[in-house]
Amino acid sequence: MIEFNLQEIILLLNFVYFYIFLTGFHQCRYGYKNVSDLESVVAGYAEANIPLEVMWTDIDYMDDYKDFTLDPINFPAKEMKNFVDKLHQNGQKYVLILDPGISTNESYATFLRGLEHDVFLKWNGTNYLGEVWPGPVYFPDFLNPAAVQFWAREISIFRKTLPVDGLWIDMNEISNFIDPPVLSSLDDPPYKINNSGVFRPINNKTVPVSAIHYGNVTEYDAHNIHGLLETRATNYTLINDTGKRPFVLTRSSFVGSGKYAAHWTGDNLARWTDLQYSIPSILNFGMFGIPMIGADICGFGGDPTEELCSRRIQLGAFYPF
Ligand SMILES: *[C@@H]1O[C@H](CO)[C@@H](O)[C@H](O)[C@H]1NC(C)=O
Ligand SMILES: *[C@@H]1O[C@H](CO)[C@@H](O)[C@H](O)[C@H]1NC(C)=O
Ligand SMILES: *[C@@H]1O[C@H](CO)[C@@H](O)[C@H](O)[C@H]1NC(C)=O
Ligand SMILES: *[C@@H]1O[C@H](CO)[C@@H](O)[C@H](O)[C@H]1NC(C)=O
Ligand SMILES: *[C@@H]1O[C@H](CO)[C@@H](O)[C@H](O)[C@H]1NC(C)=O
Ligand SMILES: *[C@@H]1O[C@H](CO)[C@@H](O)[C@H](O)[C@H]1NC(C)=O
Ligand SMILES: *[C@@H]1O[C@H](CO)[C@@H](O)[C@H](O)[C@H]1NC(C)=O
Ligand SMILES: *[C@@H]1O[C@H](CO)[C@@H](O)[C@H](O)[C@H]1NC(C)=O
Repeated sequence: MIEFNLQEIILLLNFVYFYIFLTGFHQCRYGYKNVSDLESVVAGYAEANIPLEVMWTDIDYMDDYKDFTLDPINFPAKEMKNFVDKLHQNGQKYVLILDPGISTNESYATFLRGLEHDVFLKWNGTNYLGEVWPGPVYFPDFLNPAAVQFWAREISIFRKTLPVDGLWIDMNEISNFIDPPVLSSLDDPPYKINNSGVFRPINNKTVPVSAIHYGNVTEYDAHNIHGLLETRATNYTLINDTGKRPFVLTRSSFVGSGKYAAHWTGDNLARWTDLQYSIPSILNFGMFGIPMIGADICGFGGDPTEELCSRRIQLGAFYPF
């Protein structure tokens, strides 16, 4: 009789799981250099006979981190289109990241169309100027129906160049690299938030709570639903554009997000404690009504040991996402 040890049983269960549910791996990392880098990762899965269902790319693909653009040197449109067509011929899928901040570069067509349709978040009588990966940015105000149409139009235009299957919407808390100044009493409320032991200003690394959304709604009142509204807009666009059930992964979530999107637990580290934390995090999100939930496997930051990576892959087979 063949005897199995615990590790082999877990491995066997993983394979049974993958074949019963006909799912494969989602492969993503920050730092892919070019299209051949992506191609060699996809080829590596095939050579090792590991089922790869979805390939992903982080902000590396963009031209100066501008949404709806492709880096013309390392991720040129023609090569990217070939790459995605090949994935599709293999029954595989491709997901790209989008951030909400729209670069204010005057030669950027998406920005100019956003200005034309007046879709951006307002503050102190003008568009609010934040700063994220592309440098100075304005943020579409997803409470504004014109911003939803803008987002849909830009995604639709981009999908004509590159027919991505799903979208990953990140930095949508909204994350900002600068701390906005105090403009009104809203920006300095009496109740301070104890954020991991530091009493930080409410505007710390986000858009000002004194910013004004469509309908004269303050960011103070809308902050927690902004990511949800972006998620809903992204679902709306994909379903309209592809005619299929959409795949959206969102970083910012709120009550109701699970109706439109999957969620992951954010930037974890290559540590055993982060493997442990992922279990209650994932169970909690089931209770929050976001059943499609997962955690970065092996760790987003730092370098895992081979054993840690292997254990996380084994555990990850049981994450819904
Ligand atoms: C792609 O990036 C890899 C890793 O930096 C590098 O070794 C390779 O030469 C690059 N290939 C092309 C075609 O630029
Ligand atoms: C705007 O974008 C163009 C084209 O990508 C670039 O040459 C220029 O340096 C950018 N301007 C600023 C201010 O970043
Ligand atoms: C939805 O799809 C229709 C038909 O493909 C298109 O005409 C319309 O512009 C799309 N709407 C948006 C907001 O993208
Ligand atoms: C708000 O706008 C006014 C008028 O343009 C300006 O004087 C003031 O400095 C601005 N306040 C802040 C905090 O930027
Ligand atoms: C703030 O939070 C830290 C833990 O993150 C805790 O140790 C500390 O007691 C809290 N301070 C107050 C005043 O609640
Ligand atoms: C804002 O948050 C960053 C960390 O994200 C922290 O380093 C910084 O001290 C904070 N600013 C203030 C004014 O607390
Ligand atoms: C917007 O709301 C503020 C108070 O929140 C109010 O003072 C102001 O009159 C409102 N403006 C409009 C145009 O409704
Ligand atoms: C996604 O958007 C479409 C079109 O607005 C809507 O019919 C559908 O119910 C949405 N999906 C979910 C899961 O809500």
